Amino acid sequence: GDPRLKAISEAIRVVPHFPKPGIMFQDITTLLLDHKAFKDTVDIFVDRYRDMAISVVAGVEARGFMFGPSIALAIGAKFVPLRKPRKLPGEVISEAYVLEYGTDCLEMHVGAVQPGERALVIDDLVATGGTLSAAIRLLERVGAEVVECACVVGLREVKGHHRLNGKPLYILVEPRQQTNCSA
Ligand code: PRP
Ligand code: MG
Repeated sequence: GDPRLKAISEAIRVVPHFPKPGIMFQDITTLLLDHKAFKDTVDIFVDRYRDMAISVVAGVEARGFMFGPSIALAIGAKFVPLRKPRKLPGEVISEAYVLEYGTDCLEMHVGAVQPGERALVIDDLVATGGTLSAAIRLLERVGAEVVECACVVGLREVKGHHRLNGKPLYILVEPRQQTNCSA
């Protein structure tokens, strides 16, 4: 495997019982503090996507915004923010997705992506896949082709992937249970 992945994994702080009991929160803000691990993370994505004729990197608010623009600039693509409701001022399309309690929604500006564009969806983490599936639906509604979804952290087993409408999912590291990383 890639020797950079161990350091990336170890740079992600695991916070038990946040934001509620039983959750092992994967905190990528400590990865952002580690210049080498942060740069390696972006570089791995850039090396994977630079020759795939991707013209759109779509980042999911909020934590997808921390990785997406760097990747977009490096591969020569535009960056399109997929935002939580009522944040975008222009005309939007919306896609709801299910949370443990209730639903949430992602919105995208109409006109940001043209039919036939090749898109990469980026987020920090995949759990149930609900968020990524809403992102895929937004892009497909405007006629874009979702080439792949990419996350820094997630389970590589199939759990959640069935929601992604057959789109491939690329994950750098698996979630950890323990941590000795501090911020
Ligand atoms: C987290 C995470 C992913 C999503 C993954 O975002 O950053 O976007 O949950 O969960 P899923 O695969 O079950 O859909 P969150 O909605 O907590 O908000 P944030 O990124 O704005 O902090
Ligand atoms: Mg998020």
